[in-house]
Amino acid sequence: MTEDTRTSKQPTLQINLGGLVMKNPVTVGSGTFAYGEEYHQYFDVSRLGAVTVKSLSLEPRPGNKPPRLVETPAGMLNAIGLQNVGLDAYLREKMPFLRAHGCTIIGNIYGHNPEEYAELARRLEAEGGADAIEANLSCPNVHDAKNARGCQLVAQDPALVRRYTETIRNATGLPLFVKLSPNVIDIAESALAAEAGGANAVSLVNTLTGMGIDPETRRPMLSNIVGGLSGPAIRPVAVKLVWDAARAIQIPIIGMGGICNASDAMQFILAGATAVAVGSYTFRQPDAAIRVIDGLEDYCARHHVERITQLVGGMQL
Ligand SMILES: Cc1cc2nc3c(=O)[nH]c(=O)nc-3n(C[C@H](O)[C@H](O)[C@H](O)COP(=O)(O)O)c2cc1C
Repeated sequence: MTEDTRTSKQPTLQINLGGLVMKNPVTVGSGTFAYGEEYHQYFDVSRLGAVTVKSLSLEPRPGNKPPRLVETPAGMLNAIGLQNVGLDAYLREKMPFLRAHGCTIIGNIYGHNPEEYAELARRLEAEGGADAIEANLSCPNVHDAKNARGCQLVAQDPALVRRYTETIRNATGLPLFVKLSPNVIDIAESALAAEAGGANAVSLVNTLTGMGIDPETRRPMLSNIVGGLSGPAIRPVAVKLVWDAARAIQIPIIGMGGICNASDAMQFILAGATAVAVGSYTFRQPDAAIRVIDGLEDYCARHHVERITQLVGGMQL
């Protein structure tokens, strides 16, 4: 897509996210939108700034045993365990739908080591499967023997974040986004490591580690015992982490965590996010992301803002 040259008073929502031009700043949280096709019955998915697909691995993954989703007072706990169709089936069966509808695609990837991430990024680029790569370095649900670090997250070690990012960077010319974990002491350190490794943006945040126990059965609510908390419950935490990271790094941020409407999205933008993702709320309201796009346009018009990019980091103190 070329730069927007409209001259009318209609606000422009177009952004440049670390080299990925998006017609608006709104995408969806990986894993909450599958590969887009199911949502097309509710709205034209190409209206999204980008479709972020479910984390893709080289081989298909069955994920964890049920129960793997539990509702919480203001969100949900999930331990899906990165279930996905695998790269080949994505390229063959899922990606053509998104391409046929003219969607901008953020290919979210997950691997057991840096080389697997690099291979995923390389093939997605070579086979036209993505317009940008989002490397999920922060999934808390995988207890995998092949993962030498057990259940610790790559995103919890800044040196590893840098090494993984560098390896993926060397494998692809596509814009590279690194998805970080909120389960760290200092998010600025993680974000700086991604930036130093060559990331073009960071995605903040993945789910917060959590668990629930059924007092009657005395059993864990999730088969995996531990899962990730998402939804409105985590929004204030996520906004704060975006704000912390924005003051440390130069590269843009994709903000997410409990966004339900345009006001929520504006909190992330004012805290320093250039783009936003709607995740769990899509389960309650399938077209939530579209409502966010319309609401952001309305916000800009009401506040006489010509370009949404003028609002990034615009919190007034
Ligand atoms: C059911 C479910 C599955 C998810 N799967 C993934 C995934 O495969 N890869 C990933 O990077 N993030 C995954 N996430 C995290 C979301 O993309 C998002 O970062 C997080 O849920 C916070 O946003 P939200 O509160 O709007 O849901 C998943 C979240 C949920 C709720």
